[in-house]
Amino acid sequence: MHVSGPLSSKWAAYLGLLSALSATFAPSVAVKEHDFKKCHQSGFCTRNRAFADHALASSSWQSPYNIAPDSASFKDGQYQAVILKTINDSGETVRLPITVSFLESGTARVTVDEEKRQKGEIELRHDSKARKERYNEAEQWVIVGGTALDKAAKVDHEDKTQLTVKYGPSSKFEATIKLSPFSIDFKRDGNTQIKLNDQGLLNMEHWRPKIEKPVPEKQEGESTEENKAEEPKEEPKEEPKGEDESTWWDESFGSNTDTKPRGPESVALDISFVGYDHVYGIPSHAGPLSLKQTRGGDGNYQEPYRLYNADVFEYILDSPMTLYGAIPFMQAHRKDSSVGVFWLNAAETWVDITKGKDTKNPLSLGGKSKTNTHTHWISESGLLDVFVFLGPTPKDLTAKYGELTGTTSMPQEFSIAYHQCRWNYVSDDDVKDVDRKMDKFKMPYDVIWLDIEYAEEKKYFTWDKHAFADPIGMGKQLDSHGRKLVTIIDPHIQNTDNYPVVAELKSKDLGVKNKEGNIFEGWCWPGSSHWIDAFNPAAREWWASLFNYDKFKGTMENTWIWNDMNEPSVFNGPETTMPKDNLHHGNWEHRDVHNLNGMTFHNATYHGLTTRKPGELRRPFVLTRSFFAGSQRLSAMWTGDNQAAWDHLEASIPMILSQGISGYPFAGADVGGFFGNPEKDLLTRWYQAGAFYPFFRGHAHIDARRREPYLMGEPYNTIIAAALRLRYSLLPSWYTAFRHAHLDGTPIIKPMFYTHPAEEAGFDLDDQFFLGTTGLLAKPVTQKDKESVDIWIPDNEVYYDYFTYEVVPTAKGKSVTRSAPLDKIPLLMRGGHVFARRDTPRRSSALMKWDDYTLVVAVGKNAKGTAEGDLYVDDGDSFDFERGQYFHRRFVYDGAAQSLASVDYEGRDAAAVEDGEWMKKARSLGVREIVVVGAPASWAGKKRVTVESEGKKSEARIEFTPAASGRAAFAVVKGLAVSIGADWKIDFA
Ligand code: GLC
Repeated sequence: MHVSGPLSSKWAAYLGLLSALSATFAPSVAVKEHDFKKCHQSGFCTRNRAFADHALASSSWQSPYNIAPDSASFKDGQYQAVILKTINDSGETVRLPITVSFLESGTARVTVDEEKRQKGEIELRHDSKARKERYNEAEQWVIVGGTALDKAAKVDHEDKTQLTVKYGPSSKFEATIKLSPFSIDFKRDGNTQIKLNDQGLLNMEHWRPKIEKPVPEKQEGESTEENKAEEPKEEPKEEPKGEDESTWWDESFGSNTDTKPRGPESVALDISFVGYDHVYGIPSHAGPLSLKQTRGGDGNYQEPYRLYNADVFEYILDSPMTLYGAIPFMQAHRKDSSVGVFWLNAAETWVDITKGKDTKNPLSLGGKSKTNTHTHWISESGLLDVFVFLGPTPKDLTAKYGELTGTTSMPQEFSIAYHQCRWNYVSDDDVKDVDRKMDKFKMPYDVIWLDIEYAEEKKYFTWDKHAFADPIGMGKQLDSHGRKLVTIIDPHIQNTDNYPVVAELKSKDLGVKNKEGNIFEGWCWPGSSHWIDAFNPAAREWWASLFNYDKFKGTMENTWIWNDMNEPSVFNGPETTMPKDNLHHGNWEHRDVHNLNGMTFHNATYHGLTTRKPGELRRPFVLTRSFFAGSQRLSAMWTGDNQAAWDHLEASIPMILSQGISGYPFAGADVGGFFGNPEKDLLTRWYQAGAFYPFFRGHAHIDARRREPYLMGEPYNTIIAAALRLRYSLLPSWYTAFRHAHLDGTPIIKPMFYTHPAEEAGFDLDDQFFLGTTGLLAKPVTQKDKESVDIWIPDNEVYYDYFTYEVVPTAKGKSVTRSAPLDKIPLLMRGGHVFARRDTPRRSSALMKWDDYTLVVAVGKNAKGTAEGDLYVDDGDSFDFERGQYFHRRFVYDGAAQSLASVDYEGRDAAAVEDGEWMKKARSLGVREIVVVGAPASWAGKKRVTVESEGKKSEARIEFTPAASGRAAFAVVKGLAVSIGADWKIDFA
């Protein structure tokens, strides 16, 4: 039965927890699917699906959107016109200004607005103070570059019916804008890739006044509005043009009614990927990387993918249901070609996906009928604003998307090491005890976390003085091993007396407002709360000031911040979030900005961490649960409240891969699973997988048993410690991968379609991945009692076992079975790569900072060929790298010449950068060892190699081990006197 009281059962359970410290709730409670809308419970989704059904069922359907021919102009890379939407049989039209911008990057952008709303010539109902325009500020939050117009774009052809613009690099992109009905075809090298409105599903619900009709009296037994919204019902199939008015003016779900003062405003468009049968992206969803079809059929979903950030708590797997964050960026991929779109809209969005042969025009692909993927994007309000990327590689897509929305910021170096969290460490003594025990059991870790219980009655920026009597003492103990503390700060502020934060929020008028324009009040962890409106610049400035060390007393330089519940989670709100008719800064309705809300909050926190003390400017570390496109510039994210279950471990990998290809690679999942108690083998396997998450944190629910990794006993402790140490030894390579993500948006862990875009058998693989540029191919074990895995091999290279140097018997396109007992992580080294490690195990990454490096060369199949790799190093903390204070080295092993050289990755002139303090010291960092796996047999008996660096020649020792029973020969070079920052060359010949 659906609970429609003021609190859903889930939150009633949470609130019970507030009143009774000893409260427990069953860890098996799963997300209440019916607490969240299905398409048929969302008016605009239903209307647009019905519109699509009608259009697609009718052979004579013609989109009622036509460009007024005399309205069009093209200048300086931009096409402008007015689309006329015919709204009735008498030919009445509505004016929708359209701009198509061709950008220097080769990206095209199509923006459509509605003239009446733009000019404010509409009336709002209920005396609403909301803005009249379609929301047009998403760009201000999201877009940070790449919008310069391509002045070289030119009209190639124009007649009465259409116009073709050539643009992009070497003018190999083409857009044909058809006037009547309006559609756009995007071509690359003469072939159509993407079509907008090809199926005629463009739908911008224009403003219209409500015409009051007499309400028919209800007959007994007739369904009420409320239960009508909740009962699954047949989707209306033949609703003409989506004109079902029943959800235009208000809409109820559960006990909440959305008053919709602007009436229906949805915006929808079909985007077809011609000849593409794989689409990826639009995270976050708990499902496969390659997105499924959503309109039923065998193995397909019935529901569209939904993007409406929500606190979904113990989410279900293999589902298009919405989760905590949204990135409306989608890539389509086929052999050797990738294209994509970015739908810049922050309102609730649904995306239907169908695949099929091109039946309308089977010959359109040069005689070959291929699969097309049709997508139908449906947002509740706002502009139509879509960016089109024509590839052709997956890397081009992530780079162009990164140019627009920004890339991952260079992280605090510690933040890519291991984090130990639980809800909750109960006191400062508890924290110190865990800290000591991790050392005792030789488990490296960098950060310990405090969840909501540290604050007095969950009043953020305060401490529970009994449990945490000496936070500075605790911080100092952590600091003595270079460790950090993360404290949680949520966006709900307890509505209570004697709490200066809420008093200021109210007196400065910085909270989110309800539809009447009064401060919004709702429920969250602390009970009755208000929410900071981080859309408001004044609120952000105020929020930032709260983090000053002298304000948030008890914090110090090694304290960083976790932002949770920022979807926002409102326990008694519709779908556990804010009413859509709430008002934000500028009187934008919450409906318009919902998916941006989380980002505005972690953005405010990010800025707060840059201003804690005058003169201190360090890279902030913030973890966020809710996010939108652009969040990658400011925070790491995690996948929210998963469960201690094998299938959740398995699901974490596609979810994190999906984040990576969607521009947000600093991603992880709660290691161990948030809810429930993992069995020891599950926790162990989870640490082995987590060691390959870009964000690596163990976390547990308050009711879960303690599970610090050292509590598992043997053999688990030793195995988990080995996984942690593997992560720590590879930190230099992880940091280098972050550098690449920062430079051009490249994912940190990469799925097969990304690294091998021509290998079709890899396109739906999402359980194995490459790490950065290392050539390391990992396939974590995610199933119970599984003692082997099949790793799919994408190419003809040689692959070595990471731990044994065994030459793995591989063949391109075939899977190889690798034994993987509990103590083994299936990890291969692809030939042709060089990567860096630090091999001395220590307690934290900070303590490894001045350790010399080990370089591993995996000689390629063509032993006379080259192996290449790189290493990026900076101070890991400040922004000095932006002023050249870093080393980025390229290592080139030349098999023919038998040499290994280190050169500047960017060809920079070392003399051109003046050494700062860190650079000076870092020049003393050296190379401890070089391991050459697959070393030539001719090195047998060799004792010394010559080394040349900075004009000096020296010698180093080499130890050669010949090949034996399947294991490659390898050589280890020791006693090198070279600096990691300098040019050098080793001659093995
Ligand atoms: C939310 C978070 C979880 C956290 C809890 C208490 O459920 O997702 O990680 O532990 O709130 O703050």
